[in-house]
Amino acid sequence: MQCTFYGHSAFGLNWNGTKLLFDPFISPNEAAKDVNINTIDADYILLSHGHADHVADAEAIAKRTGATLVSNFEVVNWFAEKGISKNHPMNTGGSWTFPFGTVKCVHAVHSSAMPDGSYGGNPMGFVIHDNNQCIYFAGDTALTMDMQLIPLYRKPDVCILPVGGNFTMDIADAARAAEMVQCKKVVGVHFDTFGYIKIDHQKAKTYFADRGMELILPAIGETINI
Ligand code: NI
Ligand code: MN
Repeated sequence: MQCTFYGHSAFGLNWNGTKLLFDPFISPNEAAKDVNINTIDADYILLSHGHADHVADAEAIAKRTGATLVSNFEVVNWFAEKGISKNHPMNTGGSWTFPFGTVKCVHAVHSSAMPDGSYGGNPMGFVIHDNNQCIYFAGDTALTMDMQLIPLYRKPDVCILPVGGNFTMDIADAARAAEMVQCKKVVGVHFDTFGYIKIDHQKAKTYFADRGMELILPAIGETINI
């Protein structure tokens, strides 16, 4: 599966030819200034919660590409008022089979408000699978025992987990999360963007390697095969 990191938690995933874009926060991110949002293609935009550092470019990219917006009911409605009518509202615990695969919304322990301060519903993570592959995009979350439920549905082949600490899990909690969901391959996100979430890359990778797991910390703009 080919994926491109756009900085912070913004991620593009080529799912058998369908382009999934997660949490686009790119143009306000100084570290991602070399990424031109007008070159990003998307069939679906998945938003884990309403915070600006996850939704900032969703409106522009959805309007240009005609992508379908997938998020919780409140986030979807907030964007519908801005003219993004191609959408699919969901909520925690729900799943839906789209043409590319099944999306299950799972619990994330965090908060959610829209950039204008209006109510942003509950934050979520996404478990996405078809017959051949499964990924877990955790969104912003604390470590939570609910993660133990995920391998009861499907064991992810790859997890995309926040690792920066302060607002979300840190390295140690992300490693515990990977153990809970029974996945040895982790792509770290939500690190280095702000002073509060700067991490030591080598130390973080070693921490995972010492526990028999792999932590990938992609460079901004980098496309990798996961
Ligand atoms: Ni957040
Ligand atoms: Mn965030």
